[in-house]
Amino acid sequence: MNSIIKTKNVKSDGENAAVPKHIAIIMDGNGRWATKRFLPRFAGHAKGVKTVNKVVEACVNRGIEYLTLFAFSSENWRRPQEEVSLLMQLFRKVLVGEIRKMGENNIRLKVIGDLSKFDQDLQELVRVAESETAANTGLTLTICANYGGHWDIVNACNKLIAKGIGQGEITEDMLSAHLSMAYAPEPDMLIRTGGEARISNFLLWQLAYSEFYFTDTFWPDFDVQALDDAITSFQKRERRFGKTSEQVQVQ
Ligand code: FPP
Repeated sequence: MNSIIKTKNVKSDGENAAVPKHIAIIMDGNGRWATKRFLPRFAGHAKGVKTVNKVVEACVNRGIEYLTLFAFSSENWRRPQEEVSLLMQLFRKVLVGEIRKMGENNIRLKVIGDLSKFDQDLQELVRVAESETAANTGLTLTICANYGGHWDIVNACNKLIAKGIGQGEITEDMLSAHLSMAYAPEPDMLIRTGGEARISNFLLWQLAYSEFYFTDTFWPDFDVQALDDAITSFQKRERRFGKTSEQVQVQ
C-alpha cells in the first residue's frame, strides 16, 4: 500500500496524482483528547503541536508541495480567555522554535488570516518567520490564524473595489487572485480529524473541488500512518471536476 505513497517528489497535476499536491487540514479534537485523559485542554493543544511537526515532516518526505493548517479560526476568540492566551503562547513558541528547522527542511512558511488582531510582537514574529523562509523552495506550510473563509472572500472583494473594479466586472479568476492564499493551488484534499464532518468557515472558496476526508481520530493521535491512510483514500477517488467518468478516463 505504501509503495505508491512513498514516491518522493512526485509532482501532480491535481488529477490522478500519486500524492496530492496540496493538503489542507482542520486539526480538531485536541480538547477532547485531553479531557479523555483528565488533562487540561491545553495539554491537547501542546500534544497537537507534536502532531503538526510529525505531519509536516511526513509531507516533506512524500513530496507534498503545500500543507495548510487551520490553527485558529476567527470564531476561536469566543473560547475562554485563558485558552486563547495559551494558544497564542503556543503559536509564539512554534514560530520561535521551528524557524531553524524549517530552514533545514527547505520549508517556506506563510501565515494567513486577519493578523491585525494579534499582539504586535506576535505579528512581528510572523513577519520575521515568513521573510526568513521566503526563499525556500520545498514544502509551503501555511498556518491559518484568525482565519475565516467569509473574511477571506469579503477581503478579496474589498481589495478589488479599492482597485476601482466596478459592478459586473469581477470574475472568478480575479476574485481567486485576491484571496489570501492566491500563491497556492486549491487544496486537492481536506482532512478533518476529531469526528465532525463540517468545514467550519475554513477555505470556503478554495475547497470547491477538494476531496474531503473525515476521521474520528483526535488530532493529537493523528500519526504518519493516519496521513498515509488519508492519502490512500485520495488516490482511490476519481476527480471529475464536473465531467463524466467516461470523459475523465479518456484523458
Ligand atoms: C481544535 O481542537 C484545535 C484548535 C482550535 C487549535 C489547533 C492548534 C494546535 C494544533 C496547536 C497550534 C498549532 C500551530 C500550527 C501553531 P479543539 O480544541 O476544538 O478540540 P475539541 O473539539 O476536542 O474541543
